[in-house]
Amino acid sequence: MGELQRTAMCGDLRAASAGQHVVLMGWVNRRRDHGNLIFLDLRDRSGIVQIVLDKELNPAAHALAEQVRPEYVVAVAGTVRPRAAASVNPNMPTGEIEIEAAELRILNDAKTPPFSPAEDAIGNEELRLKYRYIDLRRPALQRNLALRHKITLAVRESLAAQDFLEVETPCMTRSTPEGARDYLVPSRVHPGEFFALPQSPQLFKQILMISGLDRYFQIARCFRDEDLRADRQPEFTQIDLEMTFPQQETVFRVVEKFLAAAFGAAGIHLPTPFPQITYDESMRRFGTDKPDLRLPELVDVRNAFDQPAMETLAIDTNLPVVAILARGVGELSRKERDENRPLFDARKGAKLIDDIKRLEKSFPAAVVQIRERTGAAADDLLVLVAGDPTARIAASDTKSTGRLSEREIAVYSAAGSLRTELSRKYAARHGAYQATDDVLVRAQDESQSPVDGSRAFFPIWVTDFPMFEHDAASGQWLPAHHPFTSPHEADMDRLTSDPASVRARYYDLAMNGLELGSGSIRIYRKDVQSKIFASLGMSDEEARERFGFFLEALEYGTPPHGGIALGLDRIVMILAGAPSLRDVIAFPKTAKAVDLMVDAPSPVEDAQLRELHIQRRRT
Ligand code: AMO
Repeated sequence: MGELQRTAMCGDLRAASAGQHVVLMGWVNRRRDHGNLIFLDLRDRSGIVQIVLDKELNPAAHALAEQVRPEYVVAVAGTVRPRAAASVNPNMPTGEIEIEAAELRILNDAKTPPFSPAEDAIGNEELRLKYRYIDLRRPALQRNLALRHKITLAVRESLAAQDFLEVETPCMTRSTPEGARDYLVPSRVHPGEFFALPQSPQLFKQILMISGLDRYFQIARCFRDEDLRADRQPEFTQIDLEMTFPQQETVFRVVEKFLAAAFGAAGIHLPTPFPQITYDESMRRFGTDKPDLRLPELVDVRNAFDQPAMETLAIDTNLPVVAILARGVGELSRKERDENRPLFDARKGAKLIDDIKRLEKSFPAAVVQIRERTGAAADDLLVLVAGDPTARIAASDTKSTGRLSEREIAVYSAAGSLRTELSRKYAARHGAYQATDDVLVRAQDESQSPVDGSRAFFPIWVTDFPMFEHDAASGQWLPAHHPFTSPHEADMDRLTSDPASVRARYYDLAMNGLELGSGSIRIYRKDVQSKIFASLGMSDEEARERFGFFLEALEYGTPPHGGIALGLDRIVMILAGAPSLRDVIAFPKTAKAVDLMVDAPSPVEDAQLRELHIQRRRT
C-alpha cells in the first residue's frame, strides 16, 4: 500500500465527474451508520461530498469506517457515481453524486471537538474563539476568508493598474495622530523609551509623497486602543492610499474603480460614479454623516405648524421639526412607544413627538400636511423630532455663515440615530429596509451565500466636513480630524474668527449606514500647518515635539497631495453579510481586546521586564 496522492477536491465533483477514479482527503463532517452501508460526509476547503462504504463490496474499508469519528482526517480512494434519483440532495452542490470507496485510510484521529463545524455557529462565541481552528472549519467562515482574499486581490490589481506602488511602512514607529490610544512597545536598548504601533500610516504616506513616489498604496495593518464594537477591532486592516497633485475628485475616481473591482470580485455590480453630498446636506437629509440610503430621508416639516401650535407643543420655533418615516412598521402601541424611549437621545436638546394620533386630534391639518410631505402610507410609522426650547444654549451656538448651527445639528442627529435604531429594531418584523435586506439582520443567517447578488449596496461620498468640533467639556474648538487636513482655501481667513464656519477638504465614504473610509486633501505648506496648530492651541514647540520630523520634511519641497483609507475588514463584512468584523478576520480579538486562542495579552517573566527597564507597580 503506497502513499496516496490527492487527485481531486471534495466540493468540485459533479454529475459530469461520474466514472472518475479519485483520491480525496479531508475531515469527516458527519458519519451515518446504516449497518451494511456507512456514509461519510467528507469536507475540505472546497466543500463536502458523500462517501459510501459498502460492507459487501469492501468489508475492510467498511470495518475501518466503523472506527471513524467526526473530525478524523481520512483519505478515500474510490469512484464517482451518480446517486439514485431518490437520494439526490439538491441543497448540496455535490448532491447528485457520491463516492463509492475502494479504500479508506485514517490519516489522523481527533478528540471530540467542543462544538461541531458541521452545525451552524454556536451561540457561545468565546468558545468559538478559543477553538478558532475548529470554528474556521465551518463553511461560512471559509467562504468569508476566501471572499476576503478575492477582494484584496482585486483591490491590489486595480490599484497597480492605476499606477499605484505598494510600499510597506513600519509597524514600530512613533505615535500617529488618529486620536485613539496607542499600543506601545518598550525599547530594550533605550531605557524608558517606547515605540508606538501605528494607528494608521498617515505620516509615512505623506512623506512618501514628499519623496516623489507619486502614488502609494498599502494593505496596511493599523492598531488602535479604543472601545470596541461590532465594526471595530484593535488590530484592523486599511486599504491605504495617497497621491500627488490630486483634486478631491481624483481620489474619488480611484476609489470607485478599485471598489467596483472588489465588489465585482464578489459578484456584485457597483455603479460608478458614486453620489456625493456635503456634510450639511447629509445631516439635513439623514441626520448622520454615514447615511443609509435604503431608508426614507428625514423631512423638515416645521412649516406645517404655526407659531401658536409650536408654543402649545412646547417646541423651539427656530429649529427644524424633523419627520422620521419607518416604512411598513405600522402604528405602535403605547407600550411599544415606552419601550422605544431609550432609543431616543434626549440629551442633545431634542424632543420626541411619537404619539401622532394625539397630535392629529389637536392639529389635524398639520398632520395631513406632514403625511403628504413625507409620503407616509397608512402602514408607515411616523415620528417627529423637534428642538427643546428649554435646552441650555451652548455658548458655541453662534450661527455661522451658511452652515448648520450646533443646535440644528443636535436635532438632526437625534432624529438620525432614532431613524437608524427604529429601522434596525423593526426590520426583521416589518421589512422596513426598502432596498432589500439589512446587513445586521438578514446576515445572521449564515447559510445564505455571501455573494447573493440580490443584496443592495448604496455607497455615497460625504464632503465638506466642518474643520472643527466644539468640545463642550473644554469649551474649545478642536480639530474634527487629524491636524494635517487642509481647510478650504476660501475659509482660511476665518480659522480663528469663526471656526464653526470653516470647512475641511475632508471626505468620507459611507455605505448602508457604515463608514467605509475617510480621507482628505492635506496641508502641504508649513505656514498653513503652523496656523492650524495655532488654531488648535498647540504651540510651535509642542507641535515640533510631536511631529517635528514631519514639519521639517514639509520644508523640503512638499507637493500638494491627498489620499484616503478604507477599512478592508468593513468592506468584507458588508459583502459577506456578516454581523461582526470577527467573522471576516481569521484570528480576531474579543470585545475586551483579547485573543482567546493564544491567550494574549499575558503576563511575562520578571527577567523580561527587567531587560526592558520596566518595573511592575505593587498595588
Ligand atoms: P480613519 O481613522 O477614518 O482615517 O480610518 C479609515 C477607515 O478605517 C476603518 N477603521 C476601522 N476598522 C476596524 N476597526 C477599527 N478600530 C477601525 N478604525 C478605523 C474605517 C475607517 O473609515 N489616516 C486616515 C485616513 C486618511 O486621512 O487618509 C485614517 O486612518 O473603515
